[in-house]
Amino acid sequence: MSLFLADEAATIEFGRRFLKQLPADLAGWTVLLNGELGAGKSTFARALIKAAGHDGPVPSPTYTLVEPYQLPRANIYHVDLYRVSSEDELRYLGWNELDDGFRLVEWPDRAPGLAAQADVSLTLTYKGDGREVALTGLSERGKALLKASGLS
Ligand SMILES: Nc1ncnc2c1ncn2[C@@H]1O[C@H](COP(=O)(O)OP(=O)(O)OP(=O)(O)O)[C@@H](O)[C@H]1O
Ligand SMILES: [Mg+2]
Repeated sequence: MSLFLADEAATIEFGRRFLKQLPADLAGWTVLLNGELGAGKSTFARALIKAAGHDGPVPSPTYTLVEPYQLPRANIYHVDLYRVSSEDELRYLGWNELDDGFRLVEWPDRAPGLAAQADVSLTLTYKGDGREVALTGLSERGKALLKASGLS
C-alpha cells in the first residue's frame, strides 16, 4: 500500500501514526527506511523517535552509524548504513548488540541480508513537491501489523 505525503508535516504525522501501530514493547522490531537522498527517511525517523518520548535533537547517524535513545517503550537505535558496504561491516559495527531494542535503519540496501531479519520496509519516493511512502510487511508479524492497521 502507498500513501501520498504532501509536505514535511505529512511525513512527521505519518511517523507518529506509524509508531502508534507498533506493539507497546518495541524491542526486537526492525523497520527499514528505503529511499533516495533527501527522500525523507530521517524526517520520518525523527518524528517517530520524538513521538516515542525523546525530548531533544535527533541528529542524523550518517557519521556515527548508530544513534541510541533510551525510551520508555524500548531502546531505539537509529541506524544509517549509507557509509556501510557489506554485511561484515555491519557485524563490526555491533549490529548484533542492538537486538534488545527497536532498530530503525536508513539505507538498508547497503546490507541486503538485513531484509531477512526485518519486520517492515518503508520506501519513500519523490512525487511532485511531496513524497510517496510504500509499505511492505517482511516478517509474519510485520505483515499482520500492516494489515491490522490498514496500512497494507
Ligand atoms: N513529504 C514531504 N514532502 C516534501 N518534502 C519533504 C517531505 N518529507 C520530508 N521532506 C523534506 O525532505 C528533506 C530531506 O529529508 P530527510 O533528511 O528526512 O531525508 P533523508 O531521506 O533522510 O536523506 P538522506 O538520504 O540524506 O539521509 C528535508 O528538507 C525535509 O523537510
Ligand atoms: Mg537521513
